[in-house]
Amino acid sequence: MSGYILAIDQGTTSSRSIVFDRAMKAVATGQKEFLQHFPKSGWVEHDPEDIWDSVVSTVHDALEEAALTAGDIAAIGITNQRETIVVWERDTGKPIHRAIVWQDRRTAPLCETLKKKGLEETFTAKTGLLLDPYFSGTKLSWILDHVEGARERARNGELLAGTIDTFLIWRLTGGRAHVTDATNASRTLLFNIETNRWDDELLEILDVPKALLPEVKDSADDFGVTEKSLFGAEIPILGVAGDQQAAVIGQACFEPGMLKATYGTGCFAVLNTGETMVTSKNRLLTTIAYRLNGKTTYALEGSIFVAGAAVQWLRDGLQVIDQAADSGALAAEADPTQNLYLVPAFVGLGAPYWDAEARGAIYGLTRNSGPAEFARATLESVAYQTRDLLDAMRKDWQDDSAEHTVLRVDGGMVASDWTLQCIADMLDAPVDRPTQLETTALGAAWLAGSRAGVWPDSEAFAKGWELDRQFQPKMDESERAEKLKGWRDAVRRTLSTT
Ligand code: G3P
Repeated sequence: MSGYILAIDQGTTSSRSIVFDRAMKAVATGQKEFLQHFPKSGWVEHDPEDIWDSVVSTVHDALEEAALTAGDIAAIGITNQRETIVVWERDTGKPIHRAIVWQDRRTAPLCETLKKKGLEETFTAKTGLLLDPYFSGTKLSWILDHVEGARERARNGELLAGTIDTFLIWRLTGGRAHVTDATNASRTLLFNIETNRWDDELLEILDVPKALLPEVKDSADDFGVTEKSLFGAEIPILGVAGDQQAAVIGQACFEPGMLKATYGTGCFAVLNTGETMVTSKNRLLTTIAYRLNGKTTYALEGSIFVAGAAVQWLRDGLQVIDQAADSGALAAEADPTQNLYLVPAFVGLGAPYWDAEARGAIYGLTRNSGPAEFARATLESVAYQTRDLLDAMRKDWQDDSAEHTVLRVDGGMVASDWTLQCIADMLDAPVDRPTQLETTALGAAWLAGSRAGVWPDSEAFAKGWELDRQFQPKMDESERAEKLKGWRDAVRRTLSTT
């Protein structure tokens, strides 16, 4: 056994398979985008067959690029877009509906109805989440309501459900394992994060038969073995975590008080709170960071739905840049005397506002506002939103370390020095960019590799975390205060309730 680890990173817009060697270096990558379906305004779906095909083909591509065979792989770690839900037939493995994606807002009315019944507190107390269409539970209920006969078939045990990790493992193991890990379960709105069990009361409220749901395992555990016919040899699946939690691990944020933010389509800031399940008073989520050896580590999470997606909008919508990487240089040319504020509520606003109905707005336009000012407003909006999350975290997590917060960052946007300087300035806190930017895949690989006994334990792994560059705040306090005031005013004017 050569001790290579394969990480499968099944994301919102593409699937990637990455081979890591024993020294934890990525040596080969396969990547494939797949089709996004937008059947109605606010609806987002994926075809689970596209997801499956893209995963299988990228595994083959990565193995080929690395000149390895399945027999060289000691274990697989899976990380995935979270909250996206699939329902399929137990007998055939065939989905009964397209996957409803985390971004999909179709269950906003159901969430409102539940809130009106005064049920949000019940959900929050048990799951750490809020009644927002973001999470899987109401989406699952929607599928059972809208596919003929589905609820009945679910009750009879004919159907199975799961987040993307669960669906992939079912397929990879040839239908032998119906499992998930605690981090993915914690995003469903059905899982009690204190008892670590599916919650009967919540299942009843959403009318979800328990027979649909997978067994919940630790994040490093035995999840089954791949079918020999798929890759030429059986490979054990030993690690699973939702992508933001995998990034927490990949960033080696193992200590309470450590904080990471991943800037992809959205931005997800996750603060390790150790064994303490901190209940947010500021509209953040309480979630499971990871569960290892039966021990749950909790986190506070702030989820922003639009970060990198706003840069895509600059590129594809406004067409003011050719590639995302040009956004920083364009922003740097902006007239400093103009104060444009973009509130990128393209799909509503996430934490800490949770306003599903808000839509994007831009304020402060003058006759001289042009592409550079739009670019700066876009990148600044990411920094302002991060600041909102950090403010909420500082209020919720009052211990000494909160005063000395350092933010570890990763994701596509962190290639831009301009953006990271802007984030450090708005946070008034240092921002650390590591040398290893494949943190999500690395986290999944670490779960599998450490379980397989070929990678080091968490302490030794954390020592290997390496800084590429630290961004220190440079902006003076009065300028920061003025800018933040302008941002808060812009958000207030954008919220759907104002
Ligand atoms: O909660 C949604 C998140 O898991 C999606 O991540 O990287 O696929 O956009 P990403």
